[in-house]
Amino acid sequence: MIQTLEWTESGVVFIDQTKLPTEEVYVTCTTHQQVADVIRNMVVRGAPAIGVAAAMGIALGVKNSKATNAADLKKDFDQICEAIRQTRPTAVNLFWAIRRMTEKFESLRPRTIAEIRQAQQVMIEESQRMHAEDIAANQAMGRHGATLMPSTGGVLTHCNAGALATAGYGTALGVIRAAVEAGKKIHVYADETRPFLQGSRLTAWELMKDGIPTTVISDNMAGVMMQQGKIGAIVVGADRIAANGDVANKIGTYTVAILAKEHGIPFYVAAPISTVDLATPDGSKIPIEQRNAREVTHIGGRQMTPDGVEIENPAFDVTPAKYIAAIITERGIARAPYKESLSELATPRLPS
Ligand code: MRU
Repeated sequence: MIQTLEWTESGVVFIDQTKLPTEEVYVTCTTHQQVADVIRNMVVRGAPAIGVAAAMGIALGVKNSKATNAADLKKDFDQICEAIRQTRPTAVNLFWAIRRMTEKFESLRPRTIAEIRQAQQVMIEESQRMHAEDIAANQAMGRHGATLMPSTGGVLTHCNAGALATAGYGTALGVIRAAVEAGKKIHVYADETRPFLQGSRLTAWELMKDGIPTTVISDNMAGVMMQQGKIGAIVVGADRIAANGDVANKIGTYTVAILAKEHGIPFYVAAPISTVDLATPDGSKIPIEQRNAREVTHIGGRQMTPDGVEIENPAFDVTPAKYIAAIITERGIARAPYKESLSELATPRLPS
């Protein structure tokens, strides 16, 4: 199984996603600042993976704290969270993870040195629990979503919503994996996903490792693949799902959703409940990260645009809920009207 990120005795170890597919190298972070940097620089990326990385970064920061009293530990904790919070703005899983780690931290209230040591350990364990829960959520999502996949034929995906974008197994690719495990004969069409190439570099890499038939297409080929009848369904991940079902995901997702509508192809989103943001009423309120122009101007270090030309590089777009056939979560499948179905799935349940 691909290890996207892992807590170890020597630090948090990440597979360096900026180097794939040609080099499989690992980076070990020993401080929360280093974790913040690997999130910002996309050594680790993908909403659920960013969430777990944030939790592990916070745990690392708390572990490294030299505080000997509760007030100093709290001061350190707040600084650690702030450093992690400033990394990437769109994937809500980052903020969800900070909130969950904060709730755990607040519940501890250590006073003595011994209690501080114990609290440091509890925070590590909480981040590891989030790692394990994410894999379990993806597997559950896979079981629900596999039923929606065609028994044979092409399924298109955009960006990388696979093992590499999560703690393991994947969201959209988890659905595809589960469908293949259930005996469905799926051929994946992976959009290249300019400018960062998550589709061609990462999705193709991990699907080939699993022996799942895959064709990489450049983003502008998606329409003709649909027109030629090669695509039976589309499944993508999400970085943030607003209360009304609008979905922020990798730039280009919106285009695919519109093409799907025109061709009558179901467009599905697979994401854990931690990606649903009921506090954001609709997609217009989702902050969209703008990234460095160099991601657009250069490919593999080679300049592709004339000096001085203006560049736009929004990392995400918002697909309106009306284009989405269903949202697959670990708790079940939500359908329109999403305001009701998502709030039903996302509201914490009291034990009966
Ligand atoms: O900029 P990235 O690579 O972090 O963007 C990733 C995506 O847009 C994914 O589709 C999304 O995070 C879902 S990952 C399961």
